[in-house]
Amino acid sequence: MAILICPYCKSYLSDSGEKTYACVNKHSFDIAKQGYINLLPVNQKKSKDPGDNEMMIAARRNFLELGFYDPLIESIKNLDSEKLSFETKDIVAFDAGCGEGYYSEKALNNLPGLTTEIWGTDISKYAVKNAAKKYKDNLYFVSSIYNLPIANASTDLILSVFSPIMAEEFKRILSKQGYALIVSPAPNHLREMAELIYDTFRPHTTNIVEKMTSTFEHHSTKRSTFKIEIKSAEALLVLLKMTPYYWSTGIERLENITNKSEISVTCDFNIDIFKPID
Ligand SMILES: C[S@@+](CC[C@H](N)C(=O)[O-])C[C@H]1O[C@@H](n2cnc3c(N)ncnc32)[C@H](O)[C@@H]1O
Ligand SMILES: [Zn+2]
Repeated sequence: MAILICPYCKSYLSDSGEKTYACVNKHSFDIAKQGYINLLPVNQKKSKDPGDNEMMIAARRNFLELGFYDPLIESIKNLDSEKLSFETKDIVAFDAGCGEGYYSEKALNNLPGLTTEIWGTDISKYAVKNAAKKYKDNLYFVSSIYNLPIANASTDLILSVFSPIMAEEFKRILSKQGYALIVSPAPNHLREMAELIYDTFRPHTTNIVEKMTSTFEHHSTKRSTFKIEIKSAEALLVLLKMTPYYWSTGIERLENITNKSEISVTCDFNIDIFKPID
């Protein structure tokens, strides 16, 4: 059972029954009407609205709900029977940098042979609000992965999809039987789209294993590669808005996107599995 802790004093938080969570030191956090809790201390915000903005969250929801990345979801779900073994069947699965919640709901729910209690966090309150509104059975809270309001050893599976990672915090909150699954771009991810924007495509490189292996042992990598057929400029623009490319695309290059009515785009992901070191 995962337990929330106060982001200020680290004591346990409990539901006060008055639409707030509170700790013994009287730090109190409102439960929003959508059901999420804001556990990001004001003094830990680097900007007024940290994380992805409303436009990016809407673009991601729009795109993911068209099912374009569902083969990745299937690859994540299949890992359970292929590679992961848990001592208990009731696990806590935690989506770190959950965005608008698509992966926590679709990839962590109904894992073969397991019953999952699903938690998700993101530093963007727009993301968490949208996740909580739609996926009411999961618990979402606003926080930073650099200071997770979660008690030690109280989660069993961490999923991080294209989000910042913090090995020490992940290790702290994972139980000994736990795993961390980190999804990151493999070399050819969105190659054809990037080629419309840049003169030369630079394949993605990753340093996930270096970042994680201070506190984790690298268990294995599964690569998930597939093509998606984009049938309109609007859909391509939505995909672009989900990526950091959007911010570096000038007007001229943007026309390469808005003039494109059909394109086949490579999706290429690495799913790295890590086990905490004793
Ligand atoms: C590329 S998006 C991925 C979102 C989601 N996992 C998905 O794949 O749809 C990266 C997410 O990380 C969040 N993020 C950025 N910095 C963060 C931090 N320090 N703590 C938690 N989330 C953070 C952003 O707000 C954004 O939602
Ligand atoms: Zn407190």
